[in-house]
Formats: sequence, C-alpha cells, structure tokens
Amino acid sequence: MNFKEQIKQGIPAELPSPKTYDPNINHAPKRKDILSPEEKKLALRNALRYFESKHHATLLPEFQNELETYGRIYMYRLRPEYKMYARPVSEYPGKCEQAKAIQLMVQNNLDYAVAQHPHELITYGGNGAVFQNWAQYLLTMKYLSEMTEDQTLVMYSGHPQGLFPSHKDAPRVVVTNGMMIPNYSKQDDWEKFNALGVTQYGQMTAGSYMYIGPQGIVHGTTITLLNGFRKINKDTHGCLFVTSGLGGMSGAQPKAGNIAGCVTVCAEVNKKATQTRHSQGWVDEVISDLDKLTSRVKEAVANKETVSIAYDGNVVEVWEKFDEENVYIDLGSDQTSLHNPWAGGYYPVGLSYEEANEMMANNPKAFKTEVQKSLRRQSEAINKHTAKGTYFFDYGNAFLLEASRAGADVMAEPNLSGRAQSRPSQFKYPSYVQDIMGPMCFDYGFGPFRWVCASGKPEDLAITDQIACEVLEEMKKTSPSEIQQQMSDNIQWIKGAQENKLVVGSQARILYADAEGRINIASAFNKAIEEGKIGMVILGRDHHDVSGTDSPYRETSNIYDGSQFTADMAIQNVIGDSFRGATWVSIHNGGGVGWGEVINGGFGMVLDGSKDAQRRLESMLYWDVNNGISRRSWARNNEAVFAIKRAMKKNPMLQVTLPNFVDDELINNI
Ligand SMILES: NC(=O)c1ccc[n+]([C@@H]2O[C@H](COP(=O)([O-])OP(=O)(O)OC[C@H]3O[C@@H](n4cnc5c(N)ncnc54)[C@H](O)[C@@H]3O)[C@@H](O)[C@H]2O)c1
Repeated sequence: MNFKEQIKQGIPAELPSPKTYDPNINHAPKRKDILSPEEKKLALRNALRYFESKHHATLLPEFQNELETYGRIYMYRLRPEYKMYARPVSEYPGKCEQAKAIQLMVQNNLDYAVAQHPHELITYGGNGAVFQNWAQYLLTMKYLSEMTEDQTLVMYSGHPQGLFPSHKDAPRVVVTNGMMIPNYSKQDDWEKFNALGVTQYGQMTAGSYMYIGPQGIVHGTTITLLNGFRKINKDTHGCLFVTSGLGGMSGAQPKAGNIAGCVTVCAEVNKKATQTRHSQGWVDEVISDLDKLTSRVKEAVANKETVSIAYDGNVVEVWEKFDEENVYIDLGSDQTSLHNPWAGGYYPVGLSYEEANEMMANNPKAFKTEVQKSLRRQSEAINKHTAKGTYFFDYGNAFLLEASRAGADVMAEPNLSGRAQSRPSQFKYPSYVQDIMGPMCFDYGFGPFRWVCASGKPEDLAITDQIACEVLEEMKKTSPSEIQQQMSDNIQWIKGAQENKLVVGSQARILYADAEGRINIASAFNKAIEEGKIGMVILGRDHHDVSGTDSPYRETSNIYDGSQFTADMAIQNVIGDSFRGATWVSIHNGGGVGWGEVINGGFGMVLDGSKDAQRRLESMLYWDVNNGISRRSWARNNEAVFAIKRAMKKNPMLQVTLPNFVDDELINNI
C-alpha cells in the first residue's frame, strides 16, 4: 500500500502487528495512576469503541498494559509505518486542497524532528497533544482525505467526531481541546479525564496543528530582548543579559541574545541540555568555573562582543558571584521551569544535579524545602543587583509566584497611602508581557504571524521572505512613529532569517506584524500564488498573541480593569474567525501556563491565489487582530486606544466603544 492508500484506509480492518517500545525515542513520562478500578474499565471501554468487536479480545490486554505502564492508552500498535513529516501538499490524498494542507500541518506536529514525544503524539511542553491516541490520528487523516468543501470536520480534544455538512466559506475543521465545565478544570481533572480518553491538553499550537519548531520561540525571545533593552534605554552592544535554562524554550535565549547583539550568560545545571545547545550552535561558549566566567564576561562586555556563554552550574551562583565581583547586569530574567517546581523544573543551589534528582524521588519534602531556600537566595541576590540598577523581569515561568510562595522578598511595597492604583502589581518586578510585550507589541496589534509554504520548497520560503520584507519596508515609509521600532525590528529579522537557518520541519516563517502588516503580506502572497511564482501558503499564528489568548498572568497580564480573569476575548475571537473565513479554528483550555489557567485559540488559513482567499484573508485577519486591540483599549491601555482609533479612521465600518479616562485626583480622593 502506498502512502495515499494508507492514509485513506484510516484504522486498518486487520490489526497491524504490535510495535516494540523504542527506547531511543524521547518518550512522555509515566502519567499519574489516577483512575479507580471501575474508571479503568471505563477507559478501556472508551478505547475499544474505535475498533470492531472482533478485535477487542486482542486489544484489551494490550490497552490495559499501556494504561498500567504509562498511565494512558496510546494504542502504540496503530502507529503508522511511514515516515512522519510535512510532505509537499501534492503528496496528500484528498478532494479539497484545504484538507490536504491540514494533513501536512498535522504530520509536521508529529515529525520526530519537531515533536517532543512523537510516539505519545505530544508536540511540546511535556503534554501538548495533537491526539490522545493513534486511532484518532488515523481516523482524522482519513476524514481529511475524504472531505469536500461542503463539509466540516469536528474535533473534540483529538477525537474526530465526524464530517458534518457545511459550506465552502465555513472552516474545514473546528478544533476544541480540553474544554471543561469550569469547576472540573484542575490539574488532577486533566489527569483523570485524559486517562479516561475524553479530553486532552492541546497546549497552544500542538493541538491546533500550527507548531513550527523552535523558530517561533527564537523570534519571540529576540523581540523580548530588543524591547527589554529599549525599555531601559540601552543599546544591546556592550550590555549584559543574565538568565537561566537551556531547555526546550529557554534554550532560545542565547541565540536570541546573539541576534540582539548583547553578551548573554545563561546558567544550566543539566550538562546534557548544555551540550545539546552548544552542539547545535545555539550557545557559543561553555564555562564551568565562576572565576573564569567572571573574567570572560568582563572582557566581553568591555569589548562589546556579541557572545553567548553557558555557565555549567546553578544560576543562583551566578547572581551571587556577579554581585560580589561587581559585574553590572543590565537585563536579568529566569527561565527555569518553575511552573513545575517540585518535579525537576527547578534545581536548588547547593545540591549537584544528581543529588537533586535523587532527593526529588526519595525525599520530596526535603527537596521542596531546598527549592524554597534556593528561591529565597536567588531573589535576595537579584534584589541586590536591581538595587544597583539591573532591570529584572519574570519570563512567564512563574518565578515570582513560586519565589513569593517560598517567602522571598519579591512582593511589591504595600500601597501605604491606601489610594487606588490604576495599574496595581502584585510583585516587585514586572512580567515580560506587563512591561514589554503587552504595551510595546500586543496593544499596537503586533503579534506572531506565521506562514508555511505548502509546496515544501525552500525556494518558495525564500520568495515569501523577500515579499514580506518588501511589504514591511514599504509600509514603514508611512508608519506612525509609535510603531516604527516594531517595523524595523521585523524587517531586520526577516532579512536575517535565511542566514539564521531557523527551519526545522515544514518550510515556515514567523514575524511580528500588526493587522495591516498581516493583511498586506498575506495579500502579496496570494497575488504571487495567483501569478504562479509560489505554491499555496498556509497562514497562522501562535496563540500567544493580541486577541487569541486570555491568560491573566501572561498574555493579558497588562490588562488592569479586572477583566484579565475573563475569557470573552478568546471565545469571541475564535467565533469571529470561524465565520470570517478561517480554514480551521481551535480553542483550548490550557497552553503555556497550565490547565484551567488560560483559554487560548488560533486559526489556520490556506491561500490558493483565488479571489475567495483574498476576501477571506482581508476579513478574518482584520478581526483577528482588532478584536484584541479593542478589548485592550477598553481596558484603558493608551497604546491600544491609539491603535484602535487609527484603525477606525482608516475603516469607517469599524466602530469601537472607547473608554473615558477618569481624573486620578478625583478617584483617589474618595
Ligand atoms: N521563552 C518564552 O517565551 C516563555 C514564555 C512563557 C513561559 N516560558 C516558561 O519558561 C520555562 C522554561 O521552559 P522550557 O521549555 O525551557 O523548560 P525546560 O524544563 O525544558 O528548561 C528549563 C531548564 O532550566 C534548568 N534549570 C532548572 N533549575 C535551574 C537552576 N537553578 N539553575 C540553572 N538551570 C536550571 C533545567 O535543567 C532545564 O534544562 C517554563 O516554565 C515555560 O512555561 C517561556
């Protein structure tokens, strides 16, 4: 059977032989054994409903074993034999181009070079799932290979509910992931209902088929650093950035530091992680001795070098040593995995990596005490630096939250006057969205727009890079001063994109653009497709964006009217995208900060050079950005008020309710 035939058959009528567990693949950790014996029976019954009854006796012991051994039923036996990667779109079977493009995106998310735990269908973030099991994958691909432009595939947390009649302007796929009744949305609810096989954690771009490998995070981190240095009015050259973590996302920091042009010191306790990033060329030098590190950093800063240095050890030691040695840190952050502090996300100072791992498993109580002690020490050292002028920000990793829980001195001064604050902050230091990404990017509508060349040809990507660059350069000529900097940053990024060799998996690119930029770039792509210069293009974005995500401690942490705990924006966004022309839409519970903590959504849109595609892109991209700006403006964010007024001036059809500002004196005196 060739590739197309295999896709079209879905779940094979005759079961393939069982697969052996490949220890060379990075596998998901064993999940919590949370189900009662009765619930385990229910999980097995749920899994078996994908198969004809004649197979049940064979599959039952196998699935039972998976549930006992791994905490989940992945149905490993069903994993296809063919290589998993984003093929050129023409290689997929199907009756409509849009559905073929979605097959490409699904396979990219499961590509071994891209996915974190490919056999468990996890793309990134430890539990960011595309599907819960291989039966769902096979069935979904089959539906996609059969669907026409008059049908919509409905996806319930990885499970393909089926094809439903719709129309050509409807989304081809509607995805929901982890949508729960709110009272059942705690961490253990995910464990339980995921083990039962009825829900999954889709992260952001994992469950929505829009992951593009590490490029997204390199770009986001570069933009954060550039704007961070701007925030403190400093040129990157000759300035020092100190942080930690060379893992999944954190590993982008030294590369981003190099693109920005500063000296970066990134501490990492896990030698394997350091080696990986060093061998990939993502960090330039590795130093294990604190004295050597100090003299090397002093030299690099004095010579205004662009260099990234990994410190092979604990980040607390770096903060303390640089304080003792008076090494001035311009910008500081932390990217240990403090969203997961007790199970390997944060390694306490004073213990070796091995000692910490041992204590974590055998004496979790003592380990917790060590973590909290270490967080207090780290905060104390950071405070000494900030007293000297260092600008420290939380990188969305829950550093300040966990440090505060550990009793560290990181809380904001109490508001002694008792006067109302228009922008209250819980912590001494801001989060990266509060101070940097929110006001400097999201409020103006700038966010992570991305595209994939469906032909799979690097030449197509090079042409799209050039087109995007020309569009932005043209727009910059007449852009208002408020957004000139963002335009320049992204022009610089796209110019260096080919040279920085950022493609892993599909031929994809990311840049930050506002609504106008996204529409202009997409229109230029559509025209180039029509003229036969390039093949089809798939548009999308990260969920970490202006409008798609309601997350009170991240994407919407710079919303100060109380509405940061609501999720109307994300829900409105996905509904609005779906009737304005998205090819597929998704809405998730969880993503970045955890299950129950965020509602986030995204879209995909196939451009084929047609007039329909042009109409759809104009309508949908406009809404997809201006929805969030209008909400940010209503929350009284000045930058968003500016952006939405500008949008209204350009399009009289847009009429947004604007906030009236209350005089501080009036409010504060009540
Ligand atoms: N980069 C971003 O834009 C971004 C955005 C939001 C959130 N985050 C958060 O950043 C965190 C990191 O993500 P990741 O994917 O890199 O996780 P990861 O677990 O892959 O990497 C974290 C690394 O930190 C190292 N580490 C832990 N404690 C240390 C210590 N005391 N000193 C030195 N090194 C230490 C670990 O060994 C690990 O390699 C997560 O909490 C994530 O949610 C990142």
